[in-house]
Amino acid sequence: MAQIFKPSADTFARLVLAGSLLLLIGVVLLGPVAARSGYQSKVGWVVDQPVPFSHKHHVAGLGIDCRFCHATVESSAHAGFPSTHVCMTCHSQIWTGSPMLAPVRQSLASGKPLIWNRVSKLPDFVFFNHKIHINRGVACTRCHGRVDQMPLLTRAHPFEMRFCLDCHRDPAGRLGPTDQVTRMSSLPWDEATHRRFALAAARRYHLDPARLDKCDICHR
Ligand code: HEC
Ligand code: HEC
Ligand code: HEC
Ligand code: HEC
Ligand code: HEC
Repeated sequence: MAQIFKPSADTFARLVLAGSLLLLIGVVLLGPVAARSGYQSKVGWVVDQPVPFSHKHHVAGLGIDCRFCHATVESSAHAGFPSTHVCMTCHSQIWTGSPMLAPVRQSLASGKPLIWNRVSKLPDFVFFNHKIHINRGVACTRCHGRVDQMPLLTRAHPFEMRFCLDCHRDPAGRLGPTDQVTRMSSLPWDEATHRRFALAAARRYHLDPARLDKCDICHR
């Protein structure tokens, strides 16, 4: 290259070359990091809400079961959000003057439901159903984490395809009793009890990891 270009052009070419090389290294090395970071997967992000509702306060503090507010989680695809009336079963009595609860009072007065912004939404091309999972004893914590420790709700797991497949390829050991699905702390089971339960569940539900792995299970 030496004598064909002027020295300045040579320097320029080297700079361009070095620049693209660095960029390439950057993409190769940092691409996967960016894809897995909270920025992309939204893990740990707080979403703006009309009312700063605390799961920690209402679940851990007051001991309200998930199904009191997410009433359709066992019976339909969607868990659902509580209506204003559900909040008002208590807040027409307590904290009635709280400025934080003003949007709830307005909603009751106007009849316009509160619009909660979504924390854990899947893209439209993925099919998901709560009922199926809940009726097999997959606990809320498996997918949503320790909601009872979240003053403001954040996404606990990246809902990437791999997250779903990890379980679908080997679900038995991740199941628990169906009457414990809303339990937040882990089951008081030793290794042997857990193994026995997993074996029985696999048999009872005819779990077939080869089928649960198929694309059209989730992309219909
Ligand atoms: C007193 C009512 C109440 C109870 C009890 C409650 N939640 Fe919620 N939940 C809400 C409200 C209101 C929202 C919307 C605001 C927010 O995201 O914090 C919500 C949002 C959520 C979301 C976010 C979904 C999304 O995609 O936006 C998840 C997940 C969730 N709740 C899980 C649970 C679990 C698990 C339990 C039981 C451990 C539970 N909730 C108990 C009222 C409740
Ligand atoms: C079973 C009763 C009950 C239900 C249902 C309930 N709450 Fe509460 N909430 C409470 C109690 C009790 C407190 C006060 C807790 C404390 O400060 O110790 C509270 C506190 C709050 C606060 C904090 C108020 C402040 O000024 O500090 C907000 C915000 C709130 N609730 C929103 C909601 C929303 C929104 C809903 C419906 C999705 C709801 N709550 C449903 C009992 C309830
Ligand atoms: C196997 C994983 C899994 C389990 C178990 C699970 N969820 Fe979900 N949940 C999801 C996914 C995925 C979404 C997002 C669905 C979408 O966007 O279509 C979601 C969304 C939600 C929402 C948002 C509103 C809605 O209707 O979709 C709430 C509330 C919620 N879950 C509550 C719960 C509660 C309460 C439990 C336990 C009783 C639970 N979930 C168990 C994966 C799970
Ligand atoms: C912790 C375990 C676990 C996780 C995580 C999980 N699943 Fe499942 N899934 C199951 C089990 C168990 C079944 C029921 C299998 C059966 O009864 O044959 C199931 C069934 C399903 C079905 C119905 C299959 C059918 O029979 O038609 C769909 C759809 C599905 N899951 C989607 C998802 C998606 C999407 C995700 C990720 C957001 C996910 N699942 C995460 C355990 C899990
Ligand atoms: C258990 C559920 C499940 C199964 C089975 C599944 N997927 Fe997915 N897939 C998902 C979820 C969840 C996403 C969304 C990921 C995200 O938003 O990051 C996804 C996303 C995708 C995407 C979009 C690109 C991406 O990675 O985000 C493609 C393409 C895809 N899946 C193809 C397939 C093919 C091909 C198969 C069969 C070999 C398959 N999927 C099986 C749950 C599943």
